[in-house]
Amino acid sequence: MDTIAILDFGSQYAQLIARRVREAQVYCELFPWDAPQETILAIQPKGFILSGGPRSVYEDDAPFIQEFIFKTGLPILGICYGMQALTHALGGKVDSSAQREYGQAQIQSLVSGLDTLAAPARYSTSAHLLMFSLSSVWMSHGDRITELPKGFVALAKSGNSPLAAMGDLQRKYFGVQFHPEVHHTPNGEKLLQHFVMDICGVKPEWTPASIIEESVARIQKQVGDQRVLAAVSGGVDSSVAAALVHKAIGDQLVSVFVDTGLLRKNEGEQVASAFRNHLHSELIAVDASDEFFSALQGVTEPEQKRRIVGEKFIRIFEGQARQLGQPKFLVQGTIYPDVVESSAPDRDKAQKIKSHHNVGGLPEDMQFELVEPLRYLFKDEVRAVGEALGLPEALVWRQPFPGPGLTVRCLGEVTRERVSRLREADAILIDELSKAGLLGSRSSSSSTAGQQSLSTSQAFVVLLPVRSVGVMGDQRTYQEAAAIRAVTTEDFMTADWARLPHDLLARVSSRIVNEVEGINRVVYDITSKPPATIEWE
Ligand code: XMP
Repeated sequence: MDTIAILDFGSQYAQLIARRVREAQVYCELFPWDAPQETILAIQPKGFILSGGPRSVYEDDAPFIQEFIFKTGLPILGICYGMQALTHALGGKVDSSAQREYGQAQIQSLVSGLDTLAAPARYSTSAHLLMFSLSSVWMSHGDRITELPKGFVALAKSGNSPLAAMGDLQRKYFGVQFHPEVHHTPNGEKLLQHFVMDICGVKPEWTPASIIEESVARIQKQVGDQRVLAAVSGGVDSSVAAALVHKAIGDQLVSVFVDTGLLRKNEGEQVASAFRNHLHSELIAVDASDEFFSALQGVTEPEQKRRIVGEKFIRIFEGQARQLGQPKFLVQGTIYPDVVESSAPDRDKAQKIKSHHNVGGLPEDMQFELVEPLRYLFKDEVRAVGEALGLPEALVWRQPFPGPGLTVRCLGEVTRERVSRLREADAILIDELSKAGLLGSRSSSSSTAGQQSLSTSQAFVVLLPVRSVGVMGDQRTYQEAAAIRAVTTEDFMTADWARLPHDLLARVSSRIVNEVEGINRVVYDITSKPPATIEWE
């Protein structure tokens, strides 16, 4: 399969570049800029994209383009810092003293005057295509190019950057000062597509069907006739991973679903039915809710709750594995962003805000060999594969749900009674959002990025350990409060609170107070992330 290598120079947008290329059905991988030649060339790329980055090419230990990249003779597209590194390496000039340019900018294509150049017609046409659909772009740079390297021509200018895009049409090297990968650059994905398909000549072959075919072959080769264990949590990733492995090896797979008692309404049954009825795969369901609730008794500190759920899950899962004769392989739903995050260069290690963990995650001290069929897939691709494998839509497109489950939404002590109250209230919110067509996930995926939509990326109810006075049917009540949390976001790193219609909020509030025993007040959380986080704990 044709592939593209993306070199990460420390950009916060590097993963986005990869997602855009994948959306064009082209397989690509992200590598740190200084990854070894063998590693990068192992995927046999047909072109390179160089990401932006926070550095300046004149800094002493600034990241640079390794020589072997040029020696391949393959096309290169440099974005922002990538363009500057390209310029610096090929003898042009980068001005480090220029004013920082940040935000929306208008560019003007300069390509029309270029057709008389001696470049092969195909590439001057490609340069045309490259700039064709763009006028408004997103800039975020301090340095800029002041002198083109030999062989390059200007392809676009902006008010602030006379060299907003450049190209050497003979060598097929291109640079853009702006960020085509972000949704603030309308049609930016087309520039990436033209580079990949027209200039690198890559065929779009990365489809759910080809992903499945390739994964099945890989899994069969890895596990042979051994038995494989999967921990299914109810989330999209662990379900799709298990489904892929089942497709590859059928009944050699044993899936275990640990019901923690901390799931959303009907979630357990949905998972069991998806496995039994859609995949025709056996699922061992273990009801461990008593153990979880007793371990959580009296605990109110958020991090301690998270730790308890994570550890308990591992111990229960270990017990199951022993009972099943300790299979050699374990399916893990690791997805590509997890892999990339752990090897990204030059980015400050984020301060720990919460200890995220995935229920179904690997117990570190267990002796399993891992099967990770989603290791190179983005979330959107995981969902597309899940659909192609026949998993039900409700499972594949469900909104994210944190590993520690409803514990982190049940503030204060986590008791069976309070979790059940929370679950009922949450189900009402989800029901009303769903009826109003505002339960996003599909619509919050990157393909519609940039379009204003009311649809929520994540919505849930939080139960507060706060009681207030109310009056119902002339009776005084003194009960708990629930908060509605609904956000829109592209990547869950930042989020805004959803501007839900007041009528809808009114319906949800009235239904919760009327239908759920123990809640007499509903509030709406109108805090963005940052400064708040999406979950309350
Ligand atoms: P926060 O609350 O940090 O959440 O803004 C960002 C996203 O991550 C989800 N989340 C988790 N996911 N394990 C997970 O797999 C966890 O421990 C966890 N905690 C939060 C959260 O639901 C939101 O989508």
